[in-house]
Amino acid sequence: MKKLKFQTPTGMHDILPEDERYFQEIYKVVKEIADFYRFQKIETPILEDTELFSRGIGMTTDIVQKEMFTFKTRGGDFLTLRPEGTAPIIRAYFQHGFKNLPQPVKLWYFSPFFRYERPQLGRFRQFWQFGFEVIGEESSVIDAQLILIFSNILKELGFQNLVLKINSLGDSNCRPYYRKVLTSYFKSKVNVLCQDCRRRLKENPLRILDCKEERCQQIVSQAPQILDYLCEACKAHFKEVLEFLEDLGISYYLDPFLVRGLDYYTRTVFEIFEEGEKGKAVGALAGGGRYDNLAKIIGDEEIPAAGGAGGIERIIILLKEKKMKPPVEKKPKVFLAQIGGEARKKALKLLEVFREAKIPVAESLGRNSLKSQMRVADALGVKYTLVLGQKEAIEGKILVKDMISGKQKIIPLKRVVSFIKKKI
Ligand code: HAM
Repeated sequence: MKKLKFQTPTGMHDILPEDERYFQEIYKVVKEIADFYRFQKIETPILEDTELFSRGIGMTTDIVQKEMFTFKTRGGDFLTLRPEGTAPIIRAYFQHGFKNLPQPVKLWYFSPFFRYERPQLGRFRQFWQFGFEVIGEESSVIDAQLILIFSNILKELGFQNLVLKINSLGDSNCRPYYRKVLTSYFKSKVNVLCQDCRRRLKENPLRILDCKEERCQQIVSQAPQILDYLCEACKAHFKEVLEFLEDLGISYYLDPFLVRGLDYYTRTVFEIFEEGEKGKAVGALAGGGRYDNLAKIIGDEEIPAAGGAGGIERIIILLKEKKMKPPVEKKPKVFLAQIGGEARKKALKLLEVFREAKIPVAESLGRNSLKSQMRVADALGVKYTLVLGQKEAIEGKILVKDMISGKQKIIPLKRVVSFIKKKI
């Protein structure tokens, strides 16, 4: 087949009507849950100052080093297509004085994000996330409730074999020492590490824990574990999170090497997967954690916070794999046909009366022949077809045909909406 001249950019895709139904279904579930837990919706610009991300997400992360869409504006500013939603929300929190509101401030979003990644299954350059952020509260109960929220959403969407991976990354109290221990461990193995990890060793050894290279993973599996180096406060916080989860009946898998791809995390980090081959191939359906230091970087003030985000395309890939279809949209029960110029004018107006009465009506206004219009009505399986002929249009009448019994009668045009209302 000849290649079209214009196609979507690499790693980006159109959301076609069929996928849009999945998006709508996910949106509905997420919104219902967000409303129940009293989160408020927020939408930030798609572009932000590059520095918000490079400092917020961390200079040593793959996202900042390799994956940002950054450009210089005509005015000379550096802007970046948002690769994630947490840093912008913390920016908005300070910009709009949300710290003067009762805390915590609970926000949610459903938006597109951009990362210059190598496209593969479940990995795109433009993708959608729904996310939840709780800003201004350090209690461990929030961490557990966020995990509960993501697990509720995924369960509601039909996922039954979810696996929760969880870890604690400590805080600025205990992590520096762990970092030192880790550095000396990896230094002793530097010859085996991949090129990227040798650089990571100098910049941020924790990033090595995230490396996907086989040879690095082998070394990582023997590395010192952060859980053994947590300070008392972080240990107690993490223990509480796990106790809440146990109490909620949410099983978890302690992954001592889970660090996540963003540097802003402190204490709890988590990821949720669906079991099975495809689930593994697609990767985490949702991930998040606590980020008590991010506010300091962005707004110069210590404000504890936690949150998470789910990947909508990944969820849809797995829903399709499971052959779980979103509900089909309701079809109209009425079809309006017209024959002739005068009737077409009246039909165009009559449709508006139905719209105001909130009765869905299908039509095929561009067609002239009654036969072809009846074919459309049949294909839709409507209960009633209304036919406005030239004569009826002039006399202010309309023909109503019951499509099941085949019976038909002529009634005044003025009464047609109330007549249909009674019938359907
Ligand atoms: P993240 O783990 O980078 O976290 O992304 C969250 C989810 O978005 C992932 O679990 C995955 O489902 C989806 N996702 C990420 N990258 C891609 C991609 N290239 N293509 C398709 N889906 C993708 C964050 O972004 C954090 N902001 C989450 C958070 C909120 N942490 C605290 N608050």
